[in-house]
Amino acid sequence: MKFFIDSADLAEIRDLAATGLVDGVTTNPTLVAKSNRRFFDVIKDICKAVAGPVSAEVTATDHATMLAECRKLAKIAPNVTVKVPLTPDGLKTCKVLSSEGTMVNVTLCFASGQAILAAKAGASFISPFVGRLDDIATDGMSLIRDIVGIYRQYPAFKTEVLVASIRHPMHVVEAAKMGAHVATMPPNVLRQMFGHPLTDKGLAAFLADWQKTGQSILDA
Ligand code: E4P
Repeated sequence: MKFFIDSADLAEIRDLAATGLVDGVTTNPTLVAKSNRRFFDVIKDICKAVAGPVSAEVTATDHATMLAECRKLAKIAPNVTVKVPLTPDGLKTCKVLSSEGTMVNVTLCFASGQAILAAKAGASFISPFVGRLDDIATDGMSLIRDIVGIYRQYPAFKTEVLVASIRHPMHVVEAAKMGAHVATMPPNVLRQMFGHPLTDKGLAAFLADWQKTGQSILDA
């Protein structure tokens, strides 16, 4: 399973990328606005910090302008994945670009029918939003189960399921159990995944006992 960071905060991305566990980054206009930086500068810097796909989202809603925006974004770096909304114009744009070999992430997916359309349009990634579905008392993870199951029926579909709008580590674990290809998570969720109180307690006990031996591995 690939791990993407859902953020436009360069310091956070660099810090987590240093663990070697980060396979890519997703951004959206809200995250870019939060960074208080120029869009192109942020994407350029993130693309240098992470070798894998970096999603940069269009803000146009009509096909012609969306296509022009995507072509401009794709020139920023070879690892840019252009991100389009799941609308008729977005999918039309996806179809054109995917046929040319450009990686496209189709975002704002809330139904399995939408995910089928994105796969037919040749999307590299489909982004179903689990947290926003949970927010309206709908089981976000069951959408992931459905999409993964549907895509498995059609080996010709090359679209990867990129679980988005993740709010906590259990979303990641459930997505992994279902066989989703990618989880994009806010930095705090990846940090939370490292932690367990028994790990902290166990380590403290090991270190206390080791100290009693008076030995040092490096001096041995
Ligand atoms: C990722 O591509 C999405 O834009 C993101 O996961 C949305 O998350 P949110 O629902 O927490 O805003």
